Amino acid sequence: MSTLKAVRGTRDLLPPETALWNRIEATARSVFARYNFGEIRTPIFEDTGLFARGVGEETDIVSKEMYTWEDRARAQSEKTQSLTLRPENTAGVVRAYIEHKLGETGQLQKLYYIGPQFRRERPQKGRYRQFSQIGAEVIGPPSAGSESPLRDAEVLEMLATLLDELGITGWTLHINSVGSAADRARYNEALRAVLVSVAPRMCIDCQRRAVTNPLRVLDCKVAEDQPIIDTLPRIADSLDEDSKTHFAAVIAALDAAGVPYSRNSRLVRGLDYYTRTTFEFTHGGLGAQNALLGGGRYDGLSEAIGGPKAPGIGFAMGEDRLVLTLQALEAATPEKVDAFIAPLGESMNPAALALARELRRAGLTVELGEGSFRLKKSFEAADKTARRIVILGEDELQSGILTVKDFATGTQTKVPRGELAAVLTK
Ligand code: HAM
Repeated sequence: MSTLKAVRGTRDLLPPETALWNRIEATARSVFARYNFGEIRTPIFEDTGLFARGVGEETDIVSKEMYTWEDRARAQSEKTQSLTLRPENTAGVVRAYIEHKLGETGQLQKLYYIGPQFRRERPQKGRYRQFSQIGAEVIGPPSAGSESPLRDAEVLEMLATLLDELGITGWTLHINSVGSAADRARYNEALRAVLVSVAPRMCIDCQRRAVTNPLRVLDCKVAEDQPIIDTLPRIADSLDEDSKTHFAAVIAALDAAGVPYSRNSRLVRGLDYYTRTTFEFTHGGLGAQNALLGGGRYDGLSEAIGGPKAPGIGFAMGEDRLVLTLQALEAATPEKVDAFIAPLGESMNPAALALARELRRAGLTVELGEGSFRLKKSFEAADKTARRIVILGEDELQSGILTVKDFATGTQTKVPRGELAAVLTK
């Protein structure tokens, strides 16, 4: 019988890597709390119609990448329901906003989420079929200020802070405006008109997009198509005065806050709900899948799925990609625990457990060895996992003076038991 394996595009996350995931999530939660965001948890699957209407039928995500199934009817009289594993979470959050009438509070809703998403993409480094997003949305009635460019700038400034606190350096913020729904429609027509003559010289995907969703042509990565794309009309020329003013205000607030950015008129993003501000943060260390996160404004999404007017802006970070980036940045300094306790002989095991308890209670991270190991084996194990080894034999137990070796400096010292926690904390 063949052995069963994790399904293509899915992965097990194991220690020590999971510690990094937890650290990223803890940092994100702490930053979100400081910006007064609260957590929302929505279901992993939703009615397929939510994504078709919210994200857009013509997008790659909805037309090619969703895990969708007909749910069995419970009774013959009942109809089956088409369900889909969420490929993203903005549509779900806006559905919940509508369902729970959060707009009636009259307040801005500032919601964040952490959890798995599913897309049937071709797996490669940084691109999985189950992946995790850390995202946030700011949404509310216009009377609560949800349309203000200050909200866009604050979200971007929060992202710069979060990446800094995660220790991710060297990112680039790409920013653009795709205008209002009317601006986009106008631009789509302008593009369509030009593409009629040039698309036949482009890749097969662009030939299809030229008809179904011309904006997506700007996203094409095929090298031969780039000179043609450079000659296409630019969306900035299709923006109405309000959209131009909004974008200028976002830029001015970013300048005031000292958040660096790069304007990119080709950034249109792969989801149909975007209006006005769109953005992506990229990182050079990621290779082909270089987007750490993406987001933007979606002023018409609530109405598109049957809700009240509720403009919003948000983003989602690819947590898998944050991990890859941090691993690349931290490759030289693997995390080690504070101390490894090596009991000398099996009879010392109970005393070693008592010492470990003492140190752990003092807040130290401690690995407990095994008394039946030879000292050499204990040293090897300790060197792999800990910054120092603490040796506990009969003499040490009686005298209360322990031997501590620091692997980085190579020094060996005698430390009274009462001072051990303080010494190991340094
Ligand atoms: P998105 O650009 O489709 O936007 O995804 C956001 C991020 O999720 C990407 O930048 C990437 O880091 C990560 N990601 C996407 N697909 C994969 C994959 N197959 N494997 C690993 N990571 C992936 C959204 O999902 C929007 N909901 C963001 C948003 C929130 N816009 C407004 N509010």
